[in-house]
Amino acid sequence: MEPYRIKAVEPIPFPSEVERERALTKAGYNLFRVPASQVTIDLLTDSGTGSMSAAQWAAMMTGDEAYACSPSYERFESVLRDLSGFDEIMPVHQGRAAERVVFSTLLGPGDIVVSNTHFDTTRAHVEVTGSAAIDLPCPEAADLDSDYPFKGNIDLQALTGLLTGPDGHRVKAVVMTITNNGGGGQPVSLENLRRVRTVCNEHGLPFLLDASRFAENSWLVLQREQGHGFREPIEVARATFDLADIFWASLKKDGLANIGGVIGVRENAALAGRFRQEVILNEGFSTYGGLAGRDLDALAQGLTEVIDPRYLADRADTARWFAETLHKAGVPVVQPAGCHAVYVRAGEILPHIPAHQFPGHAWSCALYLEGGIRAVEFGTLLLGSGGGKAPHELVRLALPRRVYTRSHLEFVAESAINVGRLADDLTGYRIVGASPALRHFTAVLEPIPRDNAPPVADARASTAG
Ligand code: F0G
Repeated sequence: MEPYRIKAVEPIPFPSEVERERALTKAGYNLFRVPASQVTIDLLTDSGTGSMSAAQWAAMMTGDEAYACSPSYERFESVLRDLSGFDEIMPVHQGRAAERVVFSTLLGPGDIVVSNTHFDTTRAHVEVTGSAAIDLPCPEAADLDSDYPFKGNIDLQALTGLLTGPDGHRVKAVVMTITNNGGGGQPVSLENLRRVRTVCNEHGLPFLLDASRFAENSWLVLQREQGHGFREPIEVARATFDLADIFWASLKKDGLANIGGVIGVRENAALAGRFRQEVILNEGFSTYGGLAGRDLDALAQGLTEVIDPRYLADRADTARWFAETLHKAGVPVVQPAGCHAVYVRAGEILPHIPAHQFPGHAWSCALYLEGGIRAVEFGTLLLGSGGGKAPHELVRLALPRRVYTRSHLEFVAESAINVGRLADDLTGYRIVGASPALRHFTAVLEPIPRDNAPPVADARASTAG
């Protein structure tokens, strides 16, 4: 059960069926453009959407808004130094700000960065420097049914092959994303991280850690990797950070707060100085990095709460139970569940919709029309802007931290099951307008009418009727 009780509540919106159809049409069939006031259960992201504890709200009152070297920064720095063992700690306003600072400093045109899987903003920040971002997920990740425990791992053989091949000299860094958000929210084992460290040593490369979900990865290592079951999550987290040269994190996830990010540098004052210069240029003075003092205090407190084993056990159990509930009802999901989301295999539910007509998007729109639930497509719409096709057509049902109860998720499961019944009537979508980078955020789409069939929204209404 949840290891907390509820002290403040917030009513959730219940738009009618007509209101949902109107909101979706007006949003150009893009759920990012649907007003949150028209969303009943918002599973768009687990980023910045969590509830804060009473202790965090109290800590915010102690926030000190001095421009430079405020006590709030000292508390933030001290918690992160203890947690990570890194000596240089720089706050930034969110994860992608950290990515911009790190990659604009380290990379130039023609360079290569290798990763288990770059998250979309990570890839965009690599590519904007003229570098290439190469994903080398482990082969086990391709099998969505198996219960292989560490599908977030990098393919070590492919990594070594790349580094010893003709383009090896162009590789400037290895990035490990924990957990692997672009790869189904799957964890990375400590063993895999250790071997990446060895490869980096052999080739003189920096090991960069995207630690946005470090606590959740630590919990899954503790649960699934032999030899770690007796440890505390904080010990596993420390063993993970110990392997990296540079880390960054979007603290909107495991910072348990609504905004924030961080960059850590180990024993490299010159590099830290170059990063600091970028932080000052883009974010603000390097002891606040675009955040208010009170945000730093909320984060300092959140980072001490997130590694609580009871909290992490509940989070992982909820995700597992949610995935199991969907699976048993015939909604295929990526196995095994991680912590921050359950990924629905929409391509298998809608096999008649080809990848370039975005079956994941069609399923998400249908789920919104059915129950006012907002999810995000993780398929060709998100990953295929260069004209390519995603390896799997998924929809991510992200789980905000400490926000929804199991009864909310039961409602989501019921709605997902109902969408399955409408599957044959759903049609694909085409893009009417989109920006070249990160197109899924702003794209305007329209349903593709089937021959002799009404558009998807009407099809849904008539089937329900
Ligand atoms: N790295 C990972 C692994 C992420 O999941 C995200 C954000 C970022 C970096 C960027 O951080 O949003 O604070 O700028 N992921 C969110 C998501 C947006 O919905 O998964 P940010």
